[in-house]
Amino acid sequence: MITVVVLVGFTAYGLWAAFRNGNYFHEPYLSPFYSPCLTDNCVDDATPHIFGDISPASPALLILAFPLGFRVTCYYYRKAYYRAFWWAPPACAVPDARRRYSGETKFPLILQNIHRYFFYIALIFAGLLTYDAVLGFIHDGRFGIGVGTAVLVVNAVLIWLYTLSCHSCRHLCGGGLKRLSRAPLRRRVWARLSVLNRNHMIFAWASLVWIMIADFYIWLVAAGHISDPHWIA
Ligand code: FES
Repeated sequence: MITVVVLVGFTAYGLWAAFRNGNYFHEPYLSPFYSPCLTDNCVDDATPHIFGDISPASPALLILAFPLGFRVTCYYYRKAYYRAFWWAPPACAVPDARRRYSGETKFPLILQNIHRYFFYIALIFAGLLTYDAVLGFIHDGRFGIGVGTAVLVVNAVLIWLYTLSCHSCRHLCGGGLKRLSRAPLRRRVWARLSVLNRNHMIFAWASLVWIMIADFYIWLVAAGHISDPHWIA
């Protein structure tokens, strides 16, 4: 029930955030839903507007498929939504609700294997969100820290934790070897990532909720509902 409520809530919020096409930027904060902002419609200049004046309903719609694809095909989320929405299975040792459910052996669910490729794209997005967090320290050309800065830094940290704890990342570093002991560097990286991997579920939920918090905070500030308390050196 909790899984259903949170995922439906996130979907509803995400749709609102992506389609609102406004109040997603307040110098120097850019909402993670709109990062990177790549069209001339964008009100920030943090990233090149490589799509020029292509005018979709919202610049967020051009990029959303990538982080969303990473999440939707995530091994943890798959388990969560298969169980919560489809009851396949509802719990351990409880039969599937639908008898003809064939798991991920057939189309379309076999496409979930694309997750490992989404991982590479997710690395780029984690880098871009880190860049946004760093820009959050520059207020009117000077070093400064605001509540928005902290919000974006936490967002970047959680995204990195979620991305690096990914099962595909762990496999990339330590998988495909006959003997892990013969690759000491990869073994060390794999062991560290395994620690993160054990907490992947926590990072998945925390980063999901925090993206909403970050967007909502920037919307509040950009729309003039609140002001961003900050200090400038
Ligand atoms: S397994 Fe969850 S992000 Fe890769």
